[in-house]
Amino acid sequence: MNVTLRGRTEHFRTVAFDAQKNSVLLIEQRLLPHEFKIIGTKDFRETARAISDMIVRGAGAIGATAAYGLAQGARAFRGGDLKKFSAHVDLVFKTLAAARPTAVDPVNAMNDVRREMACGETVAEKQSLALAAAEEFANEDARHCEEIGRHGAKLIRNGMKILTHCNAGWLAFVDTGSATAPMYAAQAQGKNFHVFCDETRPRSQGATLTAWELAQQKISHQIIADNAAGHLMQRGEIDLVIVGSDRVLGRTGEVANKIGTYTKAVLAARHKIPFYVAIPCSTIDWKMKRGDDIPIEERHENEVLGAWGINTRGQREYLRVANPTSSARNPGFDVTPAELITGIITPAGIFKTSEVWKRRRKLGFVD
Ligand code: MRU
Repeated sequence: MNVTLRGRTEHFRTVAFDAQKNSVLLIEQRLLPHEFKIIGTKDFRETARAISDMIVRGAGAIGATAAYGLAQGARAFRGGDLKKFSAHVDLVFKTLAAARPTAVDPVNAMNDVRREMACGETVAEKQSLALAAAEEFANEDARHCEEIGRHGAKLIRNGMKILTHCNAGWLAFVDTGSATAPMYAAQAQGKNFHVFCDETRPRSQGATLTAWELAQQKISHQIIADNAAGHLMQRGEIDLVIVGSDRVLGRTGEVANKIGTYTKAVLAARHKIPFYVAIPCSTIDWKMKRGDDIPIEERHENEVLGAWGINTRGQREYLRVANPTSSARNPGFDVTPAELITGIITPAGIFKTSEVWKRRRKLGFVD
């Protein structure tokens, strides 16, 4: 998307690759909205750390990062021994897959890359196929988000007030975003609407990232405390909810997304407000059979016990907020049952959760 900094507008992708330096280029998202900076990782281990430390985050963005990371690791291999190369690629795959467990996109993305690599006969061929496949994953992610926008924009009418949770914007993908794509497309069609961004504690991706994105794109918006949505719904101030997802079960339609999504879905159902989930095909898990089996990442308690911000000297600082002797529990995601979801906005159209499995061929299912 376009970013305007000090009066200059430039187009950026969240994730890119420098082939000469064999480096994955990432927007340092922990610094946003206070500083815009691109970093480059020097090897696949550093790329995996960038995912687990959340320099890059969001399902599609970590999918593309893992795809590039796999290519980066494969390209760093020296020699022509195919057996040793394959063992090395396995290690790279496992390291990147372990970086964050809930989103399925990194594993789907790396499987795409490995499938393409299998067509090469030499190490050199496999290395170059790996990079081409990673580039293709990133390009497809961007294309899918555009398509999500095209389909989802139909849901947005003039004057609507839309709630979104966490950041499923372009920073969570390679470009455009999933939950924000219908908003950007509706804006391009000249529609006026207002977005409420859930703050999204503990890491505040709504208050920092989504709000920054919407401000950059000049979309009318306000940040609300996570606990405010029920009140606004009760007063008729929310007409539509659009969120993203880190893993949608293709067999059941259950949706894993940032902690607090389930609460919003229950509230939306209570108030008969349409609740949509926007995803590219790489977010669908076709194998898993039960939402209870989705691995839910538990993050460090300090995220709950305090908060990061900018101090008066402009430096990034962590402040302890909670009672000093208390500990905290910090599950990063929850699972929303299919019956609470009005529809899934995909690159192939908008489907009921019960239709996803039937439409699996259209949605990229491979046997
Ligand atoms: O922990 P994060 O920031 O990587 O969480 C992912 C998310 O941003 C959300 O869950 C989002 O709604 C889905 S990712 C497109």
